[in-house]
Amino acid sequence: MDKVTAPSVKAAKGGDKLRMVTAYDAPSARIADRAGADIILVGDSVANVVLGYESTPEVTMDAMIHHTAAVTRAAPRALVVGDMPWMSYHVTTEDSVRNAARFIREGGAGAVKLEGGAKRVPTIRAILDAEIPVMGHIGLTPQSVHAMGGYKVQGRGLESAYALMADARALAEAGVFSIVLEGVPDVVAEMITAEIDVPTIGIGAGRGCDGQVLVFHDVLGLHDRRLAKFVRKYAELADVAVAALEEFFADVRSGAFPADDETYHLPAEVAEALRAGEGSSGE
Ligand code: KIV
Repeated sequence: MDKVTAPSVKAAKGGDKLRMVTAYDAPSARIADRAGADIILVGDSVANVVLGYESTPEVTMDAMIHHTAAVTRAAPRALVVGDMPWMSYHVTTEDSVRNAARFIREGGAGAVKLEGGAKRVPTIRAILDAEIPVMGHIGLTPQSVHAMGGYKVQGRGLESAYALMADARALAEAGVFSIVLEGVPDVVAEMITAEIDVPTIGIGAGRGCDGQVLVFHDVLGLHDRRLAKFVRKYAELADVAVAALEEFFADVRSGAFPADDETYHLPAEVAEALRAGEGSSGE
């Protein structure tokens, strides 16, 4: 089992499709790794998927590092990518490099991801200079929800499609090892994928990308949030979980749990002596 690395992801361009999923803790990372994920993204979507916030800009660096460290402890094969949260790479270049380094040193990640196109190139170059691999993310970038006026598919018109292509070229030239394309029409994603020499990983970007990513809880049906058009749910684990807990609670009420073989027993003679008060000081 070879560990997946940023260079091996880059080298996969044009080969087998890359398989990426988010994970936010050790159990989900272990499941994703066992299932064959090439890349596990500790997404800032932890904010709304796990932490109960409304949107991703609410999650902090400290929370991201906490979740990233939990994931890397449980992902022996997959490349773990730490998602840089809003305002961790927007203020100064120095700040951005230090924050990226925390994902590597404290979180144990093998790379970081940040959102944005050509305007992020100086920041990306500085992080790459510190020997930290960077994954780009363009199109519908959730950290820009307020600037975009909502979660809207990007690149629908000619001008914005060409702007996205220019962004993808700029990121590839800067040296990112892959680019997430989110909420982009299929033709635009196909053209970007054909043009740049690093793998594209789509989420709501059609089937023409070099790989696909979805959110762990969406794929497994672990929550009842409204799902985007591009999500395919492969299981209804929330229903399975509720049914299992209902059964447990019913057994608690009826006394059917715990059973004899789920209970620690004393040897019969010790239990009898104990009940009889033998050996007691009488206090
Ligand atoms: O945070 C996240 O889950 C992401 C994916 C949607 C790519 O950035």
